[in-house]
Amino acid sequence: MQVQFKIKRFNPEVDQKPVWKEYTVDMEPTDRVLDGLNIIKWNIDGSLTYRRSCAHGICGSDAMLVNGRNRLVCKFLMKQALKESQVITIEPMRGFPVIKDLVVDMDGFFAKYKAVKPYLINRDPEPEKERLQSEAQHARFDDTTKCILCAACTTSCPTYWADKEYTGPASIVQAHRFIFDSRDQGANERLAILADSGGVFTCRSIFNCVEACPRGIDITRAIYEVRQAMLFNKT
Ligand code: SF4
Ligand code: F3S
Ligand code: FES
Repeated sequence: MQVQFKIKRFNPEVDQKPVWKEYTVDMEPTDRVLDGLNIIKWNIDGSLTYRRSCAHGICGSDAMLVNGRNRLVCKFLMKQALKESQVITIEPMRGFPVIKDLVVDMDGFFAKYKAVKPYLINRDPEPEKERLQSEAQHARFDDTTKCILCAACTTSCPTYWADKEYTGPASIVQAHRFIFDSRDQGANERLAILADSGGVFTCRSIFNCVEACPRGIDITRAIYEVRQAMLFNKT
């Protein structure tokens, strides 16, 4: 079948502002939207610029706006996209500076991620074997281990668009993953960071983040649990 793509292009070396360009591509319904971008890049216009790596929903590098909603294009099929619109529109994620075409500057995003100390903190002497954990203890943070740092949540959050000081839902998800880990001893450090302005209380419960997450993480629950831990010392 012939599919129409409308892609927002921007080359800072020559363009004053973004321009929409249209492409027609021969595709199958079971192809992914990423396949369409690849066909355009490899056969029609090699200057089209976007990130992708694993092509299997693991690396988190190819989140972008498809038909107005954040998606991982390697996990989104043409038949799903065509149900929404006969012309597939693709734009870079909102709220981050655009470097070129569909590639955004993620430096600020990763700085906020690093600020919540997304690693195990344990100052006890190293055990001879692994640090044991029960199934119930692991279940406490299992959902947030699924995050692939694609930024689809943060870039769909109107609070983040309006207030760049806000750490954003992805950082809170990553903090949650360690705050509730029974092997970790850094919860209070992370909670102190997230209690500051731009932390968890900046969230306005808009819920766009939950809808955008390609991993189905219950982000608002994670935000709620971090707030509870802060207010009632429940970790
Ligand atoms: Fe992506 Fe979901 Fe992680 Fe946000 S929480 S960065 S949407 S995987
Ligand atoms: Fe934003 Fe999600 Fe909170 S969309 S305001 S982080 S509930
Ligand atoms: Fe890795 Fe899509 S290319 S998640």
